[in-house]
Parts: sequence; structure tokens; C-alpha cells
Amino acid sequence: MISIALSKGRILDESLPLLESAGVVASENLDASRKLIIATSRAGVRLIIVRATDVPTYVQYGAADLGIAGSDMLAEHGGSGVYQPLDLRIARCRLMVAVRKGFDYAQAVRQGARLRVATKYLQAAREHFAAKGVHVDLIKLYGSMELAPLTGLADAIVDLVSTGNTLRANGLVAVEEIAQISARLIVNQAAYKLKRAEIQPLLDALVRAAR
Ligand code: PRP
Repeated sequence: MISIALSKGRILDESLPLLESAGVVASENLDASRKLIIATSRAGVRLIIVRATDVPTYVQYGAADLGIAGSDMLAEHGGSGVYQPLDLRIARCRLMVAVRKGFDYAQAVRQGARLRVATKYLQAAREHFAAKGVHVDLIKLYGSMELAPLTGLADAIVDLVSTGNTLRANGLVAVEEIAQISARLIVNQAAYKLKRAEIQPLLDALVRAAR
């Protein structure tokens, strides 16, 4: 049995057509279902539904053999124990620094101000600001980061931007790009060796589907 870890939301919508092209069709409607283990049309392949942040962890420990995870989540996780054989080029967005409209970020940086930055991407944010030599106090949040500059919790946020609608709706502007993000196929390193005969055809089908 091969388990593929997926998360609901942004990545799932684009992953399902890709999996379907590779011959893996979920046996039920994932939007409606509350089930966490889902059979598929491909014999010996099942889907397990986890939080986006947990996909790399399930694959690292071999509880899932394969997974589809955003490169943002992989960077936070560190990627240990997993191969990343394929950039699926779906769920593309950008990890960006954003501030309240009217906040002069460039000047604050020039003046060497110590900035408070709210984010769920602590690792990426820490590396980015350290590389720029900007002093920051990072505040860990789990969602709705856009609220932080509006309520005085932080001067800036580090968050994903896709259409830019969420920033615009909340009077924020993006001021710096940290990374281009896309979904990656990841594979448990031990499973790749031990279950190669089952995993390789699936990988090949996904490579073809992602072209
Ligand atoms: C992301 C991000 C923003 C939004 C940006 O959230 O945190 O809130 O998408 O998209 P936009 O630029 O198209 O408006 P996501 O949907 O990944 O869910 P999350 O809040 O759980 O991170």
C-alpha cells in the first residue's frame, strides 16, 4: 500500500487534477468528506488528509510514502528524511514581506529600526532578515497574519501572496519578495528504496502529468 499525504485548500484543488492524470482518482468528494483516509481508483494507493504544515512530517517518518507540500512548508520543516524529486509547478505564489499602506518600510530598514514581524514562516523570515542585516523581533502566528499590522501587533508580516486580493482588502502592500513558492512532490527516503517497484511507476506518471 502506498499512502500519499495531501492537505486541503489551495494545494488540493490543483493536486487532484494532477493525480487524476496520473491515474489516481479519489473515491469520494474530498470537499464534502470528513474522512482522513481515502481510497483511490488506483489499486494499492490511498490518500491521507493532513494539515499543510504536517505533510513533510508524515512523509519524514514514513507514515505517508509520498506527499504534496508547498516549498514554504518544506523550508519550515527543513526537509530531513524526504526526497524532493519533482517541482509540480502548481499552487504557485510568493512569500513576501508586507506592511500597512503608508508605512515607509525602506526608510525603516535604512535607519536600522528594529522591526516587529508577525508570521507563521519563522524560519524563512529569520533567514531573510538576517541576510539583509535587518534586526527583527519575530512573532509567531498561525493565520490571519494581515491583522497584525492593522492592530499594532507588528510593523510587518511575512505571508504568502497569490492574487494580492487579501493584502488589498486589508490596506496592506507587499514590499519585498522572499521566495517563489510552488508545490513539491516529496518521497520518504526509506520507502523509495524499499517500495521502489510500487513508487517508481507512480512517480513516472506524476512526472508526465506535471509536464
Ligand atoms: C494565504 C495567505 C493569504 C492568502 C493570500 O492563505 O496566508 O491570507 O492566501 O492569497 P491572495 O493573495 O490570493 O489573496 P491560505 O489560503 O494559504 O490559507 P492560510 O490562511 O491557512 O495560510
